[in-house]
Amino acid sequence: MNILHISAECYPVAKVGGLADVVGALPNYQKKTGINSKVIMPFYNTPFSEKKSFDEIYKSNLKLGDSYFNFRVLKLKNSTLGFDLICIDIPELLYKKQIYTEADTERFLAFQIALLDWVLSSEKKPDLLHVHDHHTGLIPFMTSQCFKYNELKNIPSVLTIHNAQYQGWFSHEKISLLPSFELKNIGLLDWNGNINPLAAAIKCAWRVTTVSPSYMEELQKEANGLEALLTHENKKCKGILNGIDWNVWNPETDGKLIKNYKKATVISGKKENKKWLCTKFNLDVKKPLFCFVGRLVGEKGADLFPEIFEKSLQENNISILLLGTGQSETEQALKKLNHNKNYNSFIGYDETLAHIFYAGADFLIMPSRVEPCGLNQLYALRYGTVPVVNSIGGLKDTVVDICNEGYGICHEGVSVEKVTTAIARANEFYSEKKEFQKNSKKIMTFDYSWDNSAKEYVNLYQSLKQ
Ligand code: ADP
Ligand code: GLC
Repeated sequence: MNILHISAECYPVAKVGGLADVVGALPNYQKKTGINSKVIMPFYNTPFSEKKSFDEIYKSNLKLGDSYFNFRVLKLKNSTLGFDLICIDIPELLYKKQIYTEADTERFLAFQIALLDWVLSSEKKPDLLHVHDHHTGLIPFMTSQCFKYNELKNIPSVLTIHNAQYQGWFSHEKISLLPSFELKNIGLLDWNGNINPLAAAIKCAWRVTTVSPSYMEELQKEANGLEALLTHENKKCKGILNGIDWNVWNPETDGKLIKNYKKATVISGKKENKKWLCTKFNLDVKKPLFCFVGRLVGEKGADLFPEIFEKSLQENNISILLLGTGQSETEQALKKLNHNKNYNSFIGYDETLAHIFYAGADFLIMPSRVEPCGLNQLYALRYGTVPVVNSIGGLKDTVVDICNEGYGICHEGVSVEKVTTAIARANEFYSEKKEFQKNSKKIMTFDYSWDNSAKEYVNLYQSLKQ
């Protein structure tokens, strides 16, 4: 079977968050089951694409509304990613350093139209189109409804919702940007008076998945306005837990770490990474180190961090270290906390540092209000670091509290009080040194690799085979 994964991000080509990690890993695990997956994404001006060479395999120009744009389809030469990478280069629209911009409606529409044009022109068509999130959500609509793509009508499409908060809606005034279709079917595009690419994909894709079973359930109650639609389409929806790339995220071989380690050497190995972090960020290595890595947005509970951190540092003898970027008010408030000698932060994006954080931290905090899956807690477990999480979405599916014979610290709901209480419980756990160290060894052995989940996707693809 030939699968085309269509996405705005893919690690290591272009990454903002977990979507990139998933799209960069899943194809390789699907390959192990005999499935041939390719990834197709926009061509951005990233360090990866600047260093690599590409072959031009197609070029054309197309109409977007009243104007035309030129595009090229590029294939990565000598791909070492494990799968074929195809990029759509639209110089006027996509050749940018940022993956997401203010003009995303036009950019991603042009990307989707261009890639379908290429698929249409290809001799060998994919057996299935797997679209990820709203940026690629108009594809199931276009293949099933637009006259131009009639030939692609019978190719099954699967939508994976990584995050339903973002839906990419735009005004009906922009309807002329889409290739023509039977106007009586316009309802398939609409949700609450706007064109909503995520809603359109939920309606038109043959199957819909989310990145954890609990998130699938939660979406029926809270989906940023799409609850009724998801409840209505429930029968074609399924939650499949994300995995992690076992090769990239392996403390034994991870080239980004200060010191590599495995289960037998986890205590000394983590110590070296912690020492490096504490020296770099001026923290006391003897205190338990609580870290956060991620986007500084409300979904991650980041607006509460300044208060949570201040209170936790007052009430506990701990250090807190943060790596993140996001909303500027939160960034500013966090920078102000730097006067506290037990706190420090790196406001920015740094892939290498993130790996050292997972390895050097004693605890990784994730007080997310929404977490469709979350990969950071899985990286933490793999690196012997105890996750402290709000029990929702994928966090609920992957972290069990030590009070329930588990291995992490969980709280129910997000407030300054609840998170500081969880941090205090974690601090107590740290003081039971033997138990704590035994736990670190145990969690490193959990298999959250993609092997199982990749098979679930393959079963789903097989069920759609014509
Ligand atoms: P989300 O996709 O919602 O941001 P995930 O937990 O699924 O959350 O994935 C986040 C990914 O992005 C992880 O690989 C994490 O290490 C990475 N990441 C997030 N913020 C940063 C940052 N500031 N620097 C480096 N890596 C980051
Ligand atoms: C989204 C979600 C995150 C998930 C990631 C990969 O960004 O916010 O929870 O892990 O996608 O599926």
